[in-house]
Amino acid sequence: MRTHLAKFVLLTLSLLLLFSSSVSLADQSFIDTKTGQAMKIDSALFTTEQSKKFLSTGENPYNGNAEAIASGKKHYQTYSCAQCHGAQAQGQTAAGLIGPKFNHSKSATDKGMFEIIWAGTNGGMSAKGQGVMDPTNKSNGLSPDEILKLIAWVRSQGKG
Ligand code: HEC
Repeated sequence: MRTHLAKFVLLTLSLLLLFSSSVSLADQSFIDTKTGQAMKIDSALFTTEQSKKFLSTGENPYNGNAEAIASGKKHYQTYSCAQCHGAQAQGQTAAGLIGPKFNHSKSATDKGMFEIIWAGTNGGMSAKGQGVMDPTNKSNGLSPDEILKLIAWVRSQGKG
């Protein structure tokens, strides 16, 4: 009886382990907003612990992190987002980014907003925030880590 129980526990544990390892191995799949097709983002571009976590979970670890939010604000200014979306992301020539209503409903999620900033939209939003940028070129425009900090700043504007 005892050995049966032990075997059962062992089997359950190994199944759990198998399941969790396969989940953590699978990266998020990203969708290009322009085409609606899957888009491949080189996982080597996710260089920080936080951006790696985002790649595997789709969650933004920088949300609520004051230091990250402060650098996110700088990226927002450096990449001219403010010129179209307003200094507080409240909207200017282009719509605000605070929500709760968005042109693209996926902007409500961090993964969706990341996809829009990475590859742009057909409605006048450029890839990685500037002119004609190549979203596959890592030396061109924002890195994944910078985009996550930028999003954390945008989300912080919606509160209070
Ligand atoms: C030249 C003007 C311009 C600049 C600069 C610009 N955007 Fe945009 N952005 C737009 C326009 C226009 C849209 C609406 C596009 C659409 O609806 O498809 C948009 C849409 C978006 C959306 C989707 C909003 C929604 O309602 O779903 C996000 C997110 C966004 N921009 C983020 C950024 C960020 C972050 C930057 C800086 C890195 C930036 N934008 C720079 C013009 C700009």
